[in-house]
Amino acid sequence: MAQCDYSSRQTLIAVVMPTLESLTTSGSTTDVETNGAVSGVPGTPAMSDEALPDFTSATYKDAYSRINAIVIEGEQEAHDNYISLGTLIPDQADELARLARMELKHLKGFTACAANLGVDADMPFAREFFTPLRDNFQSALGEGKVVTCLLIQSLLIEAFAIAAYHIYIPVADPFARRITEAVVKDEYTHLNYGQEWLKANFEASRVELEQANRDNLPHVRRMLEGVAADAAVLQMEKEDLIEDFLIAYQEALTEIGFSTREIARMAAAALVG
Ligand SMILES: [Fe+2]
Ligand SMILES: [Fe+2]
Repeated sequence: MAQCDYSSRQTLIAVVMPTLESLTTSGSTTDVETNGAVSGVPGTPAMSDEALPDFTSATYKDAYSRINAIVIEGEQEAHDNYISLGTLIPDQADELARLARMELKHLKGFTACAANLGVDADMPFAREFFTPLRDNFQSALGEGKVVTCLLIQSLLIEAFAIAAYHIYIPVADPFARRITEAVVKDEYTHLNYGQEWLKANFEASRVELEQANRDNLPHVRRMLEGVAADAAVLQMEKEDLIEDFLIAYQEALTEIGFSTREIARMAAAALVG
């Protein structure tokens, strides 16, 4: 995956993050005692075993029941979306079915993570969590809008997953860490699939991409806000999630062909939607 230039990345983060932060002040700093460490404190390292959460605590398991459900639901929807994309791009149906199978494998892995901790995933919560993006994907699918479908699944949802898994790995239990490390590599493959298709069709896709971004990026912002309090219990910081998401998303948009200014304008849509 190509790296965007450092200055444009820093500019985007500098522009977007403080404003996002002002919009998302709730739920960011739950002071949860975890093995003597306090999560939610900026700069608290999670690199040593001493800093890891207590994976057996009721507080951890309660938060994990929702985070894990979001992950499982996300993997299921990713599977369904790639199968659906195969109907819009029939000559790519085999490749898209291969991506879909990877998502099911991820789903099974994360289901095992919950079982390993003795947690029941809160699936009704997760289905509700994904409703706006699912509805928009289904509408675009019904209209045959392959560009919008690819932006929602391959760029937004994959970048969201990459960010979540990156930030989770250092604070995960050992079983989940091994599974997540394998999964995150696959998610880059999926993001790259959409990125390359959109790059090859950039001029024809540009206007629809910008509209799809305006319609869907605010939902991703709300999803990040909605998950922040539970993520903090798992020692995943909201600011890190936002930064990692923006980096993955911006790198994809850069590779597809957008300019730094266009990307800044697209990212700003997260603030007004
Ligand atoms: Fe996945
Ligand atoms: Fe994926």
